[in-house]
Amino acid sequence: MKKTLIGPFSQLLTLANIPLKGAIEDEALLVIENAGILVSDGKISGIGKFDDLKSEDVQIEHVHGKSVCIPGLIDAHTHICFAGSRANDYALRNSGKSYLEIAKAGGGIWDTVTKTRRATQAELVDGIIERAQNHLKSGTTTIEIKSGYGLSVDEELKMLYAIKEASSKIETDLISTCLAAHMKPKDWKGSASTYLDEISSKLFPILKSEKLTNRIDAFIEESAFSSLEIAPYFRKARAMGFSITVHADQFSTGGSETAVHYNAVSADHLEASTQKEIELLAKSNTIAVALPGASLGLGCDFTPARKILDAGGALAIASDHNPGSAPMGDLLSQAAILGTFEKLSNAEVLAGITFRAAAALELSDRGTLEKGKVADFISFPTDDYQEITYHQGQLKPNGVWKNGVKQ
Ligand code: NIG
Ligand code: FE
Repeated sequence: MKKTLIGPFSQLLTLANIPLKGAIEDEALLVIENAGILVSDGKISGIGKFDDLKSEDVQIEHVHGKSVCIPGLIDAHTHICFAGSRANDYALRNSGKSYLEIAKAGGGIWDTVTKTRRATQAELVDGIIERAQNHLKSGTTTIEIKSGYGLSVDEELKMLYAIKEASSKIETDLISTCLAAHMKPKDWKGSASTYLDEISSKLFPILKSEKLTNRIDAFIEESAFSSLEIAPYFRKARAMGFSITVHADQFSTGGSETAVHYNAVSADHLEASTQKEIELLAKSNTIAVALPGASLGLGCDFTPARKILDAGGALAIASDHNPGSAPMGDLLSQAAILGTFEKLSNAEVLAGITFRAAAALELSDRGTLEKGKVADFISFPTDDYQEITYHQGQLKPNGVWKNGVKQ
């Protein structure tokens, strides 16, 4: 089979050879001008100057006009499997009620649980596909999706089967995560610990046997689970070989310490993290995931991204797209806006939504443009990569390639 040469791109940013952790200056970005990408069998087989990659045995797919090419975006934290809207929560918050007050009054996550339980698997699949296709147009080629609006063995399974089914129907790679520990369901009569026992003893083995996910998440917070309650749950998950990720330090601290203790792949949110948590994370292998969409949706502080990077931490940026705290879902806009508030370089923003996000999902085959990596890349109609964040998400990709095929 012939290789395909795609280009020429005015600029191509490989995002390669940048450390996983710590601050990055834009000078560290490898920018190739008049660049091309050679694709074979969905993988990158060469990167370089377009003219140098031309040969008899390659077919050329021409890119016309100005174009800056970067890796396909990776959204490492979403909740896009859900039914219904929470526009009313949004209005209540804007009238002065807090996220936790609304949750206590029966809104919040539980409201979406009620609506998601009423939906059929097929309806959930349709919702995931619609949202993922929109994100693909905006450049996101890999998306993590959590369960967590089922909150019983059967309802969590319905969500995870829906993610699996959606994954088989679209090009975007969907990475699923079990978030049965999103909150103690209001219809569970026993304690938080007995709920978690039920999930770990009944659901975890099915996740393995049905290959539904290899990732376990928990929300550690006053309105959800304490670090003490979650400890046996995470021990069981670790013993069964699951990777752990945590909704940590969103409103109060504690979650990130637990995440580091259980060697979690990521600790996400971190809006309330103080210097102590920042330093703990920076010394660990746990990736810090900022979720600016939740700050924008709730009208609260951003994750201290600058401090995390300066302390030497690995920072990914994800959309948290969900019907409650982060309804916008636009990863590039949110990452760019986080950059203005937290004073991040272009390199730090782009790394956070490409290879550092891949690391948060333990995906080593994507996130940079290098020989041997998956041929997921996107192009923007400009000849200056700085314009990507400058337009704060309004400069949309004019080309999205998944496994080397233009979408
Ligand atoms: O990441 N913080 C907890 N969970 C989600 C919110 C989900 C919801 O409000 O429906 C989050 O922000
Ligand atoms: Fe979340």
